Amino acid sequence: PLRAEGLAAGFPFDPIPTQTDAQVHVPKGYVWDVVARWGDPLFSDAVGYDIAEGGPLQKSDRVFGENTDGMETFRIDGRQVVAINHEYVNRKTNLPAAQKGKPADAWDQRKLQNLQGVTVMEIAEQETGWAVAVDSRFNRRIHHNTPMLLVGPAAGHDLLKTDADPGGSRSLGTFGNCGSGKTPWGTYLTCEENFNGYFGASGEMQADLAPGYERYGISPDGWGYEYHTWDARFDVTQTPNEPHRAGWIVEIDPADPDSTPVKHTGLGRFKHENAEVVLAPDGRVVVFMGDDERGEFLYRFVSNATYASGEPTDGLLDEGTLYVARFDDDQTGEWLALTPETTGLTQAEICIYSRMAASLVGATTMDRPEWIATNPNAVEAYCCLTNNKYRGLRMNAGGGAMAVGGPNPRAHNRYGQIVRWRPHGKDYAADTFDWDLYVMAGNPTLYDDAYGGSANINAGNLFNSPDGMAFDSRGLVWIQTDGKDSNTGDYAGMGNNQMLAGDPVTGEIIRFMTGPKGCEVTGLSWSADRRTMFVGIQHPGGSWPDGAGLPRSSLIAIKREDNGLVG
Ligand code: FEO
Ligand code: CA
Ligand code: CA
Ligand code: CA
Repeated sequence: PLRAEGLAAGFPFDPIPTQTDAQVHVPKGYVWDVVARWGDPLFSDAVGYDIAEGGPLQKSDRVFGENTDGMETFRIDGRQVVAINHEYVNRKTNLPAAQKGKPADAWDQRKLQNLQGVTVMEIAEQETGWAVAVDSRFNRRIHHNTPMLLVGPAAGHDLLKTDADPGGSRSLGTFGNCGSGKTPWGTYLTCEENFNGYFGASGEMQADLAPGYERYGISPDGWGYEYHTWDARFDVTQTPNEPHRAGWIVEIDPADPDSTPVKHTGLGRFKHENAEVVLAPDGRVVVFMGDDERGEFLYRFVSNATYASGEPTDGLLDEGTLYVARFDDDQTGEWLALTPETTGLTQAEICIYSRMAASLVGATTMDRPEWIATNPNAVEAYCCLTNNKYRGLRMNAGGGAMAVGGPNPRAHNRYGQIVRWRPHGKDYAADTFDWDLYVMAGNPTLYDDAYGGSANINAGNLFNSPDGMAFDSRGLVWIQTDGKDSNTGDYAGMGNNQMLAGDPVTGEIIRFMTGPKGCEVTGLSWSADRRTMFVGIQHPGGSWPDGAGLPRSSLIAIKREDNGLVG
């Protein structure tokens, strides 16, 4: 392993056991409360939104959306603002039961579209806890029909042009909003992941575009949203280039509710998990990005220009070089530049078909890269490789081998691991690095081989499928899970999905929180005073959190009973 660097942070709480119930559990001395639930009004004209009925179309773009995911907090004019993703929508709970989740008309479709995307909202802490500041001037919903700009090297390219946008520079909506990022200049980044599932085809799919559709999972039936039945924009037979206008990272200014979100083509097109933005010593902007699909890649963008506080930021996320990682078995690695010289593709093609470009240069196929986070106390980055049941057994979607080895050391990887790399010269823009595995999840109560996990896994901290991840300001790494919560077989003793904290120096990992049965824990940020930790609960089961009626994905706040610092 890499030699320990930085400061051991120590744990300010005692670990808690696993749970299989329908509640949230936090350690002794901590309390939690709901901040906002799916359907809660952001504006007073949306009061009365009926959650038991799944809610009407009217005002569905004025409420907190469903299935929270990545989030970031902002201090703006002394107010606490949070920008938070709504990754996808549960069709069955949002449409009348008799329809079994199938939209019956264009209005059903519109309702589903309204409940996904992003919420920007002001929240305030009161005697009774944190609550949405209803009608705040910062409150805003961004959804599947919000106008966006397309900028960067691919803007205006033929592959981005449609009848509605012959210039290839303006699109509608953001899709599959998964992880998040925050720029040094105070904007929010929302990352488009499973955008492919919203598209379908009423007839033939254009043959020359087939390789791209195939690599990105665009299929005639889509994933059941049926948008293509009601809107030609989502029908690739009628609008073949529309899928190329999704799969990007989108920048949103949370301080200006009238601003137009911007899709940055320079950051590449794939199933983006999150965007970890750091600065190189010389001020260049470095963005680390995972592509969450079995056997896809880990990417890095390095800007041409440098960032300085107060200077213009135009082009910083577009003019630069996209790289993809190769991890070698000797625990070193290299960032491989994706350029016209290395790929034979044009700059715009590299942006639009980043996956195909990456396959051309010998990048390492990974076990589903999810969140990437950097350590505030050391120049090192961590990436959750959530799992990959086909490792060692199949090819990736581009025909690339998923050989066992390097940072993906187990065939049929059902538990996941976290890879860590340290750039040479303490420079995130350096092209070479050393790497190790911070942790390999596993089940040592069942296995004494690699499936038992690394040495820092024990009966007291079992988990599978690490996904969300963030460092707090003191240097603890918080790990959220999106795995199997059956608590049986290979997953015995792991309980519900959860959040753990890790010490990057000692490697020790202990459990902080467990979520309600059925949920995934995803999204983490802190209040400006660091006395509240905000956590997202996605797709809970049962009747959480209301105790009756439909389950509601929610943003929760976790505090210490003594109102002390929580990170
Ligand atoms: Fe939306 Fe890869 O998680
Ligand atoms: Ca995720
Ligand atoms: Ca996941
Ligand atoms: Ca999810």
